[in-house]
Amino acid sequence: MTSTFAQGAPLAAGRGLHAGIIMDGNGRWAQARGWPRSYGHLAGAEAVRRVVKAAPKLGIGTLTLYAFSSDNWRRPAAEVEALLALLRRYLEQEREELAREGVRCEAIGRRDRLGAGLQAALAATEQATREGRRLRLRLALDYSARGEMAQAAAEAAARWTGGLAPNAETMRHLMERALEGECGPVDLLIRCGGEKRLSDFLLREAAYAELVFLRTMWPEFGARELRRAVKIYARRERRFGGTEQAGPGARVGLAQAVRA
Ligand code: FPP
Repeated sequence: MTSTFAQGAPLAAGRGLHAGIIMDGNGRWAQARGWPRSYGHLAGAEAVRRVVKAAPKLGIGTLTLYAFSSDNWRRPAAEVEALLALLRRYLEQEREELAREGVRCEAIGRRDRLGAGLQAALAATEQATREGRRLRLRLALDYSARGEMAQAAAEAAARWTGGLAPNAETMRHLMERALEGECGPVDLLIRCGGEKRLSDFLLREAAYAELVFLRTMWPEFGARELRRAVKIYARRERRFGGTEQAGPGARVGLAQAVRA
């Protein structure tokens, strides 16, 4: 079977650019056409497929997608149900293709409120794709950056056996241990759909991320928009609080992206 995926140079998982995307605009895109909002999410899942194919070719080694925020539970029950069903279907339908194409898929966020079917689909996809080395795809599900930090603080406190309260340095160390399994810093954070906010997404990891806001609605997002965002990123000067340019040219695979 011919692969529909880009045949770029393989990237070790966790290497290359870490991009995060706030996939916004599904509802407005559908409503502008007189369709129910859930049609927008359906079209949004197609955009996810396009972006996952394009990412490794652009030097992206890790891609974190904001698929369902902890605040999204506040939406009408029918929309929540449709979204979660769509996520489950995506995981079930894409599992083999992701594994074949070297995409390691995993989830971040809370699992306990997701429902047994979705939890099982997640576990099976993580297991089937665990050897993937071309792209690390992280789906943020029932995710809240503030919630994650509070959880890490609680774990850090539970681990602390010293008498007096830990000082800031010790606390930071304990927090880092509690957040160990998490991915490193985000280099490029994209939000499409025209809004300019972070909405509780990767607040800690994006401390030095370059922010790129695009007007394109997520259902219309694809390789062209992703390439545009990477090019904007590549033109930015990153100093991380210092005075010297610290990237992005040095990053694995980026030269490839800039030429693309
Ligand atoms: C924001 O658009 C989008 C979401 C809350 C859900 C994102 C989900 C998908 C793209 C579905 C498929 C995902 C995967 C991983 C298969 P919105 O509905 O808030 O848009 P609006 O701002 O126009 O109302």
